[in-house]
Amino acid sequence: MKKAFLLGRGISNSLSPAIQNAAFRKLRINAAYELEDLNRRSFASFFSSLSISDTIGFNVTSPFKEEIMSYLTAIDPRSKSIGAVNTVKIIDNQIGGMMGFNTDYDGIFAALRRLGCLRESAKQKSAVVLGAGGASRASIYVLLNNGYSNLTILNRTVSKARVLSKRFESLFPKSEIEIAPLTEAKFAKSIENCGLIINTISKSNSRYFPLKKLDLSRIASKTAVFDLGYKEESTFLKTARRSGLKTIDGLLMLVTQAAKSFEIWTGRKAPFDLMMATAKSVLQHSV
Ligand code: ATR
Repeated sequence: MKKAFLLGRGISNSLSPAIQNAAFRKLRINAAYELEDLNRRSFASFFSSLSISDTIGFNVTSPFKEEIMSYLTAIDPRSKSIGAVNTVKIIDNQIGGMMGFNTDYDGIFAALRRLGCLRESAKQKSAVVLGAGGASRASIYVLLNNGYSNLTILNRTVSKARVLSKRFESLFPKSEIEIAPLTEAKFAKSIENCGLIINTISKSNSRYFPLKKLDLSRIASKTAVFDLGYKEESTFLKTARRSGLKTIDGLLMLVTQAAKSFEIWTGRKAPFDLMMATAKSVLQHSV
């Protein structure tokens, strides 16, 4: 039996094993998806003990989506531009090659399309992105690739936001990317006139999340809000929904990125509806 893995830190409650194993079973693929909960040191040693010939590939999540890139033999061009990889395919069992992909892109694209945020528009489109990690990189790339030209990145660590603004302004010379610390005042100011807010900080219900009170008083009523969290509705998303804004959580993104990863590993069409139903059922039973 072949193995697939999720590499990440603090991932014991991940839905990915249930989603992927349901798909493997449905298509009668002799493979099992397992969690590898790693820290920085064990992440490095994971690869020295990995049996390439027994592995079809793996997913990579927080905080390793950027670090993984230095272990790979090839990276597809889009993922290279994004600067983050969440899916790795074993490409050649003899040589042991590993190729990186970014299927977060597909997930984010699906969520924004469902929100109606990717329709053609003559106006310059603007968005605010919270966070500056791997998921933020993919979000920014989807936005700049789809007609958004004015972005603001708010992050607890401003230097990380600066790295992203420089990178993406040079990749998309017509774009303007502002950065600011993730504070309530900066949030309230930056959401004026923006059409979309994406919260990539998935643990935004943590008591350490700096935006305790969300001031949405200056927001335009047409602004849409996408929160990548999917376990329970975040306070962030609830506040936006109760203010009458169009919202979407991270479930569609989660299942879309999982389905794309499955297709990259197996070359088969993913049973998307089954994967979605499995994710919903696990979520229902974990409440
Ligand atoms: P992912 O791949 O999901 O984007 P990541 O690369 O580890 O995960 O990035 C996590 C993001 O969440 C970062 O922007 C991080 O902020 P820092 O750059 O300041 O570390 C943000 N984050 C995590 N916990 C946070 C918290 N309690 N409050 C605010 N931001 C937080």
